[in-house]
Amino acid sequence: MRIVVLGGTVFLSRAVAEAALAAGDSVTCVSRGVSGEPPRGATAVKVDRSEPGALAAALGGQEFDAVVDVATMSAPWVRDALDALAGRAGHWTFVSSINAYADLSLRGGTVGQATLPPLHGAPDPAVQFTDPEVYGSVKVGSEDAVRDRAGDRALIVRGGLMCGHGDLLDRFGYWANRISRGGRAVVPDVPGHPMQLVDVRDLAAWIVRCARAGTIGTYDGTGPRSTLARVLEEITDAVGAPGLDLVRVPVETLYSEDVGIWYGPRSLPLWLPETHWGMADRDVTDTLDAGLTVRPVAETARAALEWERRLGLDRERKAGLTEAEERAVLRAHTTG
Ligand SMILES: NC(=O)c1ccc[n+]([C@@H]2O[C@H](COP(=O)([O-])OP(=O)(O)OC[C@H]3O[C@@H](n4cnc5c(N)ncnc54)[C@H](OP(=O)(O)O)[C@@H]3O)[C@@H](O)[C@H]2O)c1
Repeated sequence: MRIVVLGGTVFLSRAVAEAALAAGDSVTCVSRGVSGEPPRGATAVKVDRSEPGALAAALGGQEFDAVVDVATMSAPWVRDALDALAGRAGHWTFVSSINAYADLSLRGGTVGQATLPPLHGAPDPAVQFTDPEVYGSVKVGSEDAVRDRAGDRALIVRGGLMCGHGDLLDRFGYWANRISRGGRAVVPDVPGHPMQLVDVRDLAAWIVRCARAGTIGTYDGTGPRSTLARVLEEITDAVGAPGLDLVRVPVETLYSEDVGIWYGPRSLPLWLPETHWGMADRDVTDTLDAGLTVRPVAETARAALEWERRLGLDRERKAGLTEAEERAVLRAHTTG
């Protein structure tokens, strides 16, 4: 199969390129070339997608059996890719997000659930990464464009929490890192908190299998339902230091200590308020029936820790508590 990956140098799109190469495909990766090189064996094509028409010019009259597009924040990029390639490509995968759903509190939701209103333009860069609704709306606008132009051969994958090697968001990796270092580690005391994740290698391999099989339709791209407590337990079993003590701290203490949810500095990554539990509690029966296979969380934890070590365990993080912040929370918990 001849496959073009729009991206291919980082995390998911790189894993897609690797999976396609492993399957014996001829792989072209399109990126600016600022985030690194694609995997060995892939053909690198340098394009800046913010320049309309650049993709069409760079790929000339080439034909592809499959396209995988991960465009994050720009419906115009997606339309430009369709202009360039829809007439010369077979299967089309667009990687969307679970943030596309309008009601993230709904637990057990399926892909038929209502989505946010679409945003068809490119959002203001000042809000694009701080407003999940803008992100979700851009994904909906992008999905619409793909269905409109290639709906008869399109796979839309609404990604959930992607984890493992190459993750640049520092969320799941925070726990692999923290748990591997031992001592008293703050965890949110939220019984029943749902959690759901997918190892980037499993999602990538499934995307490539779908492209080969011609699977079309819309699917949530994440693994089976679990709980946050269970996931932390599985990470502990895989990479936990001897003597590790997971200290369950009530949410009232976390809030009073200014600890944030989900992502960002001074946060406990993966912790969600109940208003967002639906993000980590999707009914993915259809996805599993369509062939997504998932490895044990332990394997993802080991891959995440290896990646964390490569980035530097003590680096400044995008998500999580610093040692000093964690000590302050533990003091407040003990004295409060
Ligand atoms: N991480 C999660 O947990 C999560 C959850 C749900 C959904 N998702 C979705 O999953 C996908 C993740 O994709 P990803 O891991 O490959 O990362 P990504 O950050 O979405 O894509 C990065 C790729 O795009 C290229 N790129 C960036 N700007 C470009 C430009 N102007 N022109 C051409 N290429 C450009 C990058 O290379 P250069 O920088 O070298 O150009 C890189 O190869 C996204 O669609 C994301 O929205 C992620």
